[in-house]
Amino acid sequence: MRITLSVIKADIGSIGGHIAPSQKLLEAVRVHVRRNGEGMLADSYISHTGDDIAILMTHSQRVGSEAIHKLAWDAFLVGTQVARDQGLYGAGQDLLKEAFSGNVKGMGPAVAEMEFEERPNEPFLFFAADKTDPGAYNLPLYLAFADPMNTPGLILAPSMAKGFKFVIMDVSHTGKDRIIELNAPEELYDIAALLRDPERFVIESVWSRQTGEQAAAVSTTRLHNIAGKYTGKDDPIMLIRVQKDFPATGEILAPYAIGHFVAGCMRGSHQMPLMPVALNSGISYFDGPSIVSCAAFAMREGRLTEPRDAFDHPFWRSVQDKVAHKAVDMRQQGFFGAAMLPMSELEYTGISEKMKRLEARFEIRD
Ligand code: F6R
Ligand code: MG
Ligand code: MG
Repeated sequence: MRITLSVIKADIGSIGGHIAPSQKLLEAVRVHVRRNGEGMLADSYISHTGDDIAILMTHSQRVGSEAIHKLAWDAFLVGTQVARDQGLYGAGQDLLKEAFSGNVKGMGPAVAEMEFEERPNEPFLFFAADKTDPGAYNLPLYLAFADPMNTPGLILAPSMAKGFKFVIMDVSHTGKDRIIELNAPEELYDIAALLRDPERFVIESVWSRQTGEQAAAVSTTRLHNIAGKYTGKDDPIMLIRVQKDFPATGEILAPYAIGHFVAGCMRGSHQMPLMPVALNSGISYFDGPSIVSCAAFAMREGRLTEPRDAFDHPFWRSVQDKVAHKAVDMRQQGFFGAAMLPMSELEYTGISEKMKRLEARFEIRD
């Protein structure tokens, strides 16, 4: 059976600043999707990570379906009204366009979708991150799909021996998508050369070279490119099919033990370590730290099992402690050097306004 997985997420309002949506808001989105998705959706799952609500849908409408995108857009509109009624902060903040025009891409919400022939058993993972951008997944995807030091399956499993194809997007390019396809392992150094710059080059999808099947889909929205101004970080979502011809769940999860530094956190303008957290977590310290959650599912004819919380396990406690220490260490250097993002990524305009004023006061000394 051919199935499409679509996940569409947006920040449409939050309690106490940018922490988490209210239960009433989540319920409004859930009820809208359940009522209006009847007959079209095989299943759905509504969750939040930090201040972002994600609507995961399974269906046969294919990738980029207007009906599916409209269902999510309308759910966010209904939710925004609830957010306004409750006085939530940033009500409707990711809905950047007035009228729906066929597809939520370019309208503010983030989208990750893939379509495939469902296997007799279909394990997959749904990742959602808050207070960071899609480049946050570059390192874990590189390790999981291209590095046998992380993924022994690349040398042990014959079905993975040919490696994976990476589709990488230049997210600094506005207008039409600018992408490149590169094959691991042959073009590993080219892949590495691009992925080292996660603010510009972002993995959009990963494909098995053995079967041609899609393994991963990442949302690649850059909100400030749509709005022309800062509207919050992009807070990326990702779908990954696992096992057999794809890496095992544990191989996909392993890189998150690093707690690597990503762009985001306070005012979307810092480098902070990424903390793996339980499903439906909020944020806290320094509007962060940047967080990532992972719901694991099995699926049959589009019907989902309950989500299994992949980071809710004793192993991740010491990782969370390590990440908290890394975060505090980095915060000790405040705005200096590596702690704050470079000028081009500072999404509030305060510094550039100060620079303009100060430029006029610089003098050349004889
Ligand atoms: C980061 C984020 C928050 C806000 C910060 C200030 O993506 O959402 O760190 O940038 O709380 O928010 P405003 O400007 O809405 O007061
Ligand atoms: Mg967010
Ligand atoms: Mg937000």
